[in-house]
Amino acid sequence: MGFSNDFVWGVATSSYQIEGAAFEDGKGLSIWDTYSHEPGKVFEGHHGDVACDHYHRYKEDIRLMAELGVKAYRFSVSWPRVLPEGTGAVNEKGIAFYSDLVDEMLKYGITPYLTLYHWDMPYELYKRGGWLNPDMPRWFAEYAALIAERLGDRVKNYMTFNEPQVFIGLAFVDGVHAPGHRYTRQETLLMAHHVMLAHGLAAQAIRGKVADARIGYAPTSNVPVPVTMEERDVEAARRAYFEMPENGDWSWNTAWWSDPIVLGHYPEDGVKILEKDMPKIGQDDMKIIHQPLDFYGQNIYRGEPVRAGEDGKAIHVPYPEGSPKTAIGWHVNFDCLYWGTRFLYERYQKPIFITENGMSSHDWVHLDGKVHDPQRIDYLQRHLQWLKKAAEEGVDIAGYFQWSFMDNFEWARGYHDRFGIVYVDYQTQERIPKDSFYWYQQLIRENGENL
Ligand code: NOJ
Repeated sequence: MGFSNDFVWGVATSSYQIEGAAFEDGKGLSIWDTYSHEPGKVFEGHHGDVACDHYHRYKEDIRLMAELGVKAYRFSVSWPRVLPEGTGAVNEKGIAFYSDLVDEMLKYGITPYLTLYHWDMPYELYKRGGWLNPDMPRWFAEYAALIAERLGDRVKNYMTFNEPQVFIGLAFVDGVHAPGHRYTRQETLLMAHHVMLAHGLAAQAIRGKVADARIGYAPTSNVPVPVTMEERDVEAARRAYFEMPENGDWSWNTAWWSDPIVLGHYPEDGVKILEKDMPKIGQDDMKIIHQPLDFYGQNIYRGEPVRAGEDGKAIHVPYPEGSPKTAIGWHVNFDCLYWGTRFLYERYQKPIFITENGMSSHDWVHLDGKVHDPQRIDYLQRHLQWLKKAAEEGVDIAGYFQWSFMDNFEWARGYHDRFGIVYVDYQTQERIPKDSFYWYQQLIRENGENL
């Protein structure tokens, strides 16, 4: 058995990366609206003011998704579009946009998978301390309740957070994503704790409004991949995936971000290493954080080859000179989805969705008017072959969302990197399905049988 008959083939995007209409119809500012306009922060001063203009072109985009044949679309809601101040007054036009978007999907039989937070924090809340403010989890839960109340009759699948590793780690530990300031370890661990509390409270809030809601989470990781199938190397990779590094660099640690949510406690090794910087954990906090999870999402783009050293611990194996890289500069490890899903399933025992996977390349329109992207086809094909192998070996894989449906604003790299299977001409807003679009269309039709 490969992919089950009800396997969810989808595509993914996020609000700030595609919507545009940044200052329209009563939307409030997000930290990405302000950050992208600060000189020197984003490649060549790009910003998401217009992006793919999806706010005005969503009907065309959903029609194209229907042509692609996807069963599901993973999108995110812009918190400041629906709650301009982050809390309090509702922007009805913002709600109407998402409501219409969902109706449009349903018209074509496409199931919505809604992410509540894909990095565009309301700027007004940032001014009040953002993730450092102990009220933030409650504000997030209010926002979640609003979305569930207004869309929950039609939207059943929710993800609370996308890649907390990035919106806390890259943003506040490293200071290279909005809002662009570095904070201490104590502060960032507190932010992370608030994010997890927010996840728990939001899950409760959604279930309070939508009895049949299915709730997930979408963190990310680079997967340590063993360079041989030998058990020693496999075990070294497994350990490296979850173990806290001795130097306490916690923001990419898979166990730190997922154990509390799925297992109900922080990982012991991490607590020991980070002890003196740990936030104060309230008596009920872990109970709140540890809500039933219907599925476990994971964004996976790449791996890190490792082998076991003398002591059994993972040693990084350098890439051979000239080994494949995507346009963004990421090494390619075709087997990362196999090892990632396998290790995650062993530990968490939840149905897994690959909530993002894909590659950037410098695509352009060829003389024949088409966009040929053979490398993306090869990337997707080989990653999916490995994912299928995991499914065949009994890993419960529920679905796969290709990132991304269309080229879009790649955060600090602006429009430099194209991840889409649909090409976007940012000058005219023309959409051109790339070769990979048609390849994926065929794959969906065959449910991956000919991979
Ligand atoms: C993960 C993020 O969720 C998404 O926003 C980003 O565009 C892709 N990775 C590619 O970097």
